[in-house]
Amino acid sequence: LRNLNQDTITQAVIARLAGTPDARLKEVMTNLVQHLHAFARETRLTEAEWQAGIEFLTAVGQHSDADRQEFVLLSDILGLSTLTVTQNHDKPAGLTESTVMGPFYVADAPQLSGGAKLSADRPGQPCLVWGRVGAIDGAAIAGATVEAWHCDGDGLYDIQQGQGEQRHCRGVLQTDAQGRYQIQTIVVPSYPVTADGPVGQLLGAMASQPWRPAHIHFRVSAPGFETLVTHVYREGDPYLDSDAVYGVRESLIVPWVEDTQGRCVIEFDFVLQRSLA
Ligand SMILES: [Fe+2]
Repeated sequence: LRNLNQDTITQAVIARLAGTPDARLKEVMTNLVQHLHAFARETRLTEAEWQAGIEFLTAVGQHSDADRQEFVLLSDILGLSTLTVTQNHDKPAGLTESTVMGPFYVADAPQLSGGAKLSADRPGQPCLVWGRVGAIDGAAIAGATVEAWHCDGDGLYDIQQGQGEQRHCRGVLQTDAQGRYQIQTIVVPSYPVTADGPVGQLLGAMASQPWRPAHIHFRVSAPGFETLVTHVYREGDPYLDSDAVYGVRESLIVPWVEDTQGRCVIEFDFVLQRSLA
């Protein structure tokens, strides 16, 4: 292991992985080393660029905490999130498609009960989101857990608005005996991904458009079914074909219809896949 050079270093690192007890870890690390080295070799990475990369990743870590996830955003804009989601959720037709989780999921969102609004005190055009959670055979799933979250009327998530900010525009509810759910909230706009961190700066440097089409995030779970992470998008949104995080799927786009009282109504049914185990 002396005098290693650009032609021998890769095999030396891979050889050291030979004794990794966990077979999957060994496979993942071997592939990672091979591809990472190939990237440096093909790009002819300079030391200054390597240093800039280290500083960039350090900043991504420094902009991440229990609430904000800059690494998820980085994965999203690189398309890695969509690649991972799609290769793990290649579902038969009829099941609701999955899409990216995004950086703003919070596991302990407030329970919505007694007609409480998802939007809490945020102003905006009233919006009703409703539908049914069921299985592919049409059976209703009673007691399914529906978690929903979205930005406010200014295009910001609660956790982007600082520590101590009250939770808003996120909540959890359960479906009724017929598998139905109903959410009172506000209409959400298209929004640009977070610009004040290293990933936003990278998007700027790449002259990439930072906008996401208007959407509501959902995580739907029930015993005996695969957990579904998805979005519901607004038909006609100008960013449906240029989503900054590559998350749009045709089957998740629905009309957001204004009713006679000026309220927006979104109907969306979720069809869950039975657990394979
Ligand atoms: Fe979002």
